[in-house]
Amino acid sequence: MDENGLFEVLKRYGQYHLIEHYRGLEEKKKEEFIKNIEKLDLELVFKLYNHFSTPESDKPRKYSNIKNSNIIGLHKTAEELRMKHLAKKRGEELIRQGKVAVLIVAGGQGSRLGFDYPKGMFPISPVKEKPLFQLFAEQIRAMEIKYQRRIPLLIMTSEENHKTTVEFFESVDFYNLDRENVFFFEQNMLPSITPKGRLIRSSDTSLYVNPDGHGGSLKALYGSGLLSRLLSLGYEELFYCQVDNPLVKIADPVFIGYHMMHNAEVSTKVVRKRSPEEKVGLYLNVDGKDRIIEYSDLEEEYNDARDEKGDILYWAGNTAIHIFSLEFIMDLNKNGFALPYHCARKKIEYPLRKNLIRTIDIWKFETFVFDAIPLAKRTCCMEVKREEEFSPVKNKEGLDSPITAKKDMINLYRSWFEKAGIFIPEHVPVEISPLFAFEEEDFMEKIMDFSKEEIEDMIGQGIIYLG
Ligand code: UD1
Repeated sequence: MDENGLFEVLKRYGQYHLIEHYRGLEEKKKEEFIKNIEKLDLELVFKLYNHFSTPESDKPRKYSNIKNSNIIGLHKTAEELRMKHLAKKRGEELIRQGKVAVLIVAGGQGSRLGFDYPKGMFPISPVKEKPLFQLFAEQIRAMEIKYQRRIPLLIMTSEENHKTTVEFFESVDFYNLDRENVFFFEQNMLPSITPKGRLIRSSDTSLYVNPDGHGGSLKALYGSGLLSRLLSLGYEELFYCQVDNPLVKIADPVFIGYHMMHNAEVSTKVVRKRSPEEKVGLYLNVDGKDRIIEYSDLEEEYNDARDEKGDILYWAGNTAIHIFSLEFIMDLNKNGFALPYHCARKKIEYPLRKNLIRTIDIWKFETFVFDAIPLAKRTCCMEVKREEEFSPVKNKEGLDSPITAKKDMINLYRSWFEKAGIFIPEHVPVEISPLFAFEEEDFMEKIMDFSKEEIEDMIGQGIIYLG
């Protein structure tokens, strides 16, 4: 784009203040400004702006026919356990055939945690303080060894943290994963806009932008060419999770198996909501279609509803763990990106001029990955135990914080020992590396190699790490 092109675009959207600003820049900065504007999808932003400026768009959407969906429950009966066993076999077969890849969305910084680096670098394991990224990478490595197949790891970053994330992986030698098999790709950024339709700047040469939401992973996967590449290499299914959950079972074969048995295009894991106030999305059936509705978009009556036993009626909380078929992701992109955009109306501290900071309103546009669910022809959803698979690190303190996640990790590992008949006292922190055992069954086999004395010795040392 040249200068005339820039003026043409900015005039089209009434952004005369940016033309004026541009004119005052020195040559080098002018070039930078053009480059930065060029890569943004202004057409999309103004389309969304016009859409969200209508009064109806501000009202919460009314859902008429809401009920709980059909969800595979926890496995209790012999028949359910038989199904689980079958599903696991099916999932393992798929991994062995090299059809499964893993995607971790890690576009955000750990700012809510008071951590100024990519969240995946946050140290979380209870004994060795391994970062989140390491826990995921070690699980993948352990699975590759067990199933004798490479499992590509895709990490979605954003402009804010791409460089640091890649450098971090280089500095730890990719945790022994084959670096050719780890792919980083950036999600898109979209300019935020004021309610009056004004784009604002974050510096002399750039606009104030925001990442386009985790739904943007499905768009950027296509846009980066990675999706076609995976398909051409024979991959078929993509395990998806967020970077914030240290308990996630990466590429869980049981989950993959059920996904295949349902011939699903998208699958989801849910946990029972711990309270009506818990800030999770809800997996529901709405007008005959499965979908996830974010807690904040649901009227209170649904969050508070109870069944006849007094339990939470709409209980299926979204863990943000999914499987997508790669062909389905392709379909979502074929005729323009299919996911709907949401508009978050926020207040930010903005420097209007030097030394003058004002709180201003902005709108940011983003897509949610779970909005793909109602677009799928077939879906599958399974309940899992929170204490085994879901303990996200969101806040600095209190619920869903590093303290609760560490405690949940210790409790999980301790429960494995207990099932093997070994009692670990409360005060002894325990950590089991995925490279020692990435699932309970593996642990049961491996722990048999330890003598009673060796175990007593470990406990006596007051800290247990099996790696
Ligand atoms: C999200 C889900 C919620 C679910 C919960 C489970 C939404 C709107 N809600 O809530 O239904 O129950 O997780 O933990 O998603 N991310 C990016 N790029 C982005 C935005 C987010 O990579 O542009 C990643 C972040 O790194 C983060 C994750 O997505 O790990 C979750 O995003 P966040 O906005 O924190 O969602 P939650 O409020 O935690």
